[in-house]
Amino acid sequence: MKKALRRVLAIESSCDETAAAVLEAPLDVRSSIIASQIAAHRPYGGVVPELATRAHVDAIDYVVEEALREAACDLDALDGIAVTRGPGLASSLMVGVQFARTLAWRADIPLFGVHHLEGHLCSVFLAETLDSMHDLCPSLVLLVTGGHTALVRMDAPGVYTVLGRSLDDAAGEALDKGAKLMGLPYPGGPEIEKLAREGTRSGVFPRSLPHSDSARERGGQYAFSFSGLKTALRYFLEKNPDASHADVAADFQSAVMDSLLTRLRQAAEKEKGIRSLACVGGGAKNQHLRGGLDALAVQVGKPLHIVPMAYCTDNAAMIGTVPLLRTMDPMSVDEDLHPNLRLEGVRLRG
Ligand code: KG4
Ligand code: ZN
Repeated sequence: MKKALRRVLAIESSCDETAAAVLEAPLDVRSSIIASQIAAHRPYGGVVPELATRAHVDAIDYVVEEALREAACDLDALDGIAVTRGPGLASSLMVGVQFARTLAWRADIPLFGVHHLEGHLCSVFLAETLDSMHDLCPSLVLLVTGGHTALVRMDAPGVYTVLGRSLDDAAGEALDKGAKLMGLPYPGGPEIEKLAREGTRSGVFPRSLPHSDSARERGGQYAFSFSGLKTALRYFLEKNPDASHADVAADFQSAVMDSLLTRLRQAAEKEKGIRSLACVGGGAKNQHLRGGLDALAVQVGKPLHIVPMAYCTDNAAMIGTVPLLRTMDPMSVDEDLHPNLRLEGVRLRG
């Protein structure tokens, strides 16, 4: 019989954050340490894989030690280790997976390979608005990260149906690329949000909601598309060099967020048996989106759960939630990191 998991150490190193956390059952975050590399990548306008790997190697020892120290726990007190197995940058994932594997071997405890996006999805179980974990599912979860945008029906941890996903750029990617076009630093999402606060919207950018048969086949009934918006921004800036960047940012941000909110509203009105609405990922930090979600939840009469600010962008606590929430088989010694890992048991509903 498998030993019940009471305390796990989680490690995340898929992109530009080196993170470690300790969690206790049922779902208590005892520590969450994040070493961000944003400053190192900023001069290059995006993540440089070689720099990321080196920074992970430099930080991981200290970050894990800090997470254990803050949780007042040593290796012997752990029942398992969770690590992001993919998707992500291969050499960055390798740092976390090798480190976690060595610790798990030393402590003779199981190692769980977690899908990064499942970590984001399950991070909503950390929402302060949840009285009981049983109040969440079935939930319509809007996943808004730098690399992925999707509307997911979560019937339980481990049971996911993708109702819509982006056919091209992710929403976060659109914000990052849009910010670059406006000369703002990386990552663009928070920069656009800051600038947009000083601007006025006039609605010049398109809200693209693809609905052709082919879009539905590739992106589901609630497919998203953001690459046209980025092109529209480029042309707009070329044609209107004197336009107020604050106004442009306000418009661009609301175009991105309106697409997300419209799809969530459509699904909330049509899907059967939905108990709650949810939002996870780096984009969930955005106050404009949070405001729109609050209003939408009232409009459709469903409770809304948003991942706490501390667990929106990449962190290890979200990775640790997965083996605590559902049964998983440990990674075997011949299983490796997986830069293009698919999320098991997920289907796209057309
Ligand atoms: O979830 P995450 O850390 O990384 C991925 O798994 O991709 O999300 C990072 C994304 C970036 O695109 C960043 O611009 C966006 O989240 N982001 C924001 C905000 N803070 C981070 N987007 C809009 N408003 C924000 N305040
Ligand atoms: Zn992420």
